[in-house]
Amino acid sequence: MATSAASLSKGTWWKEGVAYQIYPASFKDSNGDGLGDIAGILSKVDYLKDLGVDIVWVSPMFESPQIDMGYDISNYESVHAPYGTVEDMQALIDACHARGMKILLDLVINHTSSEHAWFKESRSSRDNPKRNWYIWKPPRYAEDGSRLPPTNWRSYFSGSTWEWDEHTQEYYLHLFAKEMPDLNWENEETRQAIYNSAMRFWLDKGVDGFRVDCVNMYSKRLGFLDAPILDAAVFEQPAWCEYANGPRMHEFLREMNSAVLNQYDAVTVGELPHTPDPKHVLRYVGAGDKQLSMVFQFDIVDIGQGTVGKYRFEDWKLPFFKATVAKWQQFIEGTDGWTTAFCENHDQGRSVSRFASDLPEHRENSAKLLSLMLATLTGTLYIYQGQEIGMINVPTDWTIEKDYQDIESVNFYHAAVKAAREAMAGDQQAIQKETDYIRRSIQILGRDNARTPMQWDASNKSAGFTDRPEGGWMRTHDLYPEINVAKQQSEPDSVLSFWKNMLRLRKSHKDLFIYGNFRLYDPDNESTFVFAKTTTPAGEAATGAGQAAVVVLNFTDKVQVVHLPPADEVGDIQLQVGNYLDATAAEKTEQSSALGRQRTLRPWEGRLYMSS
Ligand code: NOJ
Repeated sequence: MATSAASLSKGTWWKEGVAYQIYPASFKDSNGDGLGDIAGILSKVDYLKDLGVDIVWVSPMFESPQIDMGYDISNYESVHAPYGTVEDMQALIDACHARGMKILLDLVINHTSSEHAWFKESRSSRDNPKRNWYIWKPPRYAEDGSRLPPTNWRSYFSGSTWEWDEHTQEYYLHLFAKEMPDLNWENEETRQAIYNSAMRFWLDKGVDGFRVDCVNMYSKRLGFLDAPILDAAVFEQPAWCEYANGPRMHEFLREMNSAVLNQYDAVTVGELPHTPDPKHVLRYVGAGDKQLSMVFQFDIVDIGQGTVGKYRFEDWKLPFFKATVAKWQQFIEGTDGWTTAFCENHDQGRSVSRFASDLPEHRENSAKLLSLMLATLTGTLYIYQGQEIGMINVPTDWTIEKDYQDIESVNFYHAAVKAAREAMAGDQQAIQKETDYIRRSIQILGRDNARTPMQWDASNKSAGFTDRPEGGWMRTHDLYPEINVAKQQSEPDSVLSFWKNMLRLRKSHKDLFIYGNFRLYDPDNESTFVFAKTTTPAGEAATGAGQAAVVVLNFTDKVQVVHLPPADEVGDIQLQVGNYLDATAAEKTEQSSALGRQRTLRPWEGRLYMSS
């Protein structure tokens, strides 16, 4: 049948809508305390609508001691006071709905804060009724009698996943910070409490669904075995094989749907790391076995991360990037599953800096090139705040000591430097080399890159993010006078205008861009990325009007030659959009030359062709 397989159940808002992620601390401060807030978000709802956003995803704004920027929740039913109140959230929900937009909240239920009332009870005594709501284990003992944690698992934020509790003489599990104990999903009563407090409370207020944090980590392998040793220099080892995608994961998600989500027709987008097998991902996102509406599969944003330690940057080549994009575009073809298109979020370096070029002469074209790529990909499109104006990574002279704030990268840095000092004692040069390498890796990949305040204008040194004279909670990017919303709103050729245009185009050709099939061309080329989107499955020609789009992207700062796919595969295609102002003129010259389907792309040039 000549239809796109992914198009089963077309017309769904959560497939066709453009989603935009807001990181509350850094979006907009309305009351001059240096921290973003809900009233600040409210003041920008019209900006989002105008950009073309249909779905607003708000990262955690719940009550929290903020050890991990709100991913450590102490009360699901209350709002972090500096951000506002539950009533403010209700106003935001209503404001989105009044403009025809949907709103998703973050659902962080793998763990709570250690300040949550549930954990306070759980840790109060071994026979407390809530003891079993978290994961407690007795110690192991080494041959010399010293106490050891129950396993050698490494926490995401460095060190062990186990914290010793002096009071009750047991360890509790925390995959993240020690202030973020893991909930025990094996306990039915705990699951019911989570459903009520974290989910029904907000669904009753009208939220349309959730981005689900660590969605594949609730079910741990109950043997609690040591992880294999990958990093012989330290005791703690990467252990996701023991705690991700555990035996009851799918059962828990089915229960969550039948108990809660189905009653509200709520949508979920799960955060799904450590799951490289498409067949496995399909189990989560297949529409038949309703578990999750869609997921963020992490292969694309993991590119460049170290295999043993996240902030040990590894160089990569374009064919790998292209194959990764192709894999997570194509895995739903012929199935009832759904995918997402994204390359930024609050845990990632900025895409212009990571995947293209943030040099002054290239960064605007780079941002537009990535926009061209993303806006033409199949699946639900997610944009992260600031991506629409091409915000870039923090400058290389920002220091870990003064400017970086993120618990993950700061802890990683200190642990790596300590390990280097121990392993290379006396060799100052080697220690310095290692330290510089980790700093550079964090500058490329660090989460703080995404958390600098949103650059609204050049009205003050905080880029209009806050009026507080001493600035925001986090340093503003030095380049805000050049990269900001107000400036770009006044420029028809800005990155912001380009994104708006691309989002409009995407929505006016849903069959091609949102539901189409993806075909990669010239996969081994290290400089250019050429792909087609078609409304027909691979192997079938897409030669009728409106049936095909071709995207050609030069991922280098040199001139590159590309070949448009043959006419018998993609039909007669015409230039629709380019990121160079004179793309149309350049195209005319090339078309009239004797070069046939060959095109020459300038540094970071991208073009979109569509069948007429
Ligand atoms: C994933 C979130 O995106 C990240 O920011 C957070 O640190 C961890 N989960 C823990 O909740």
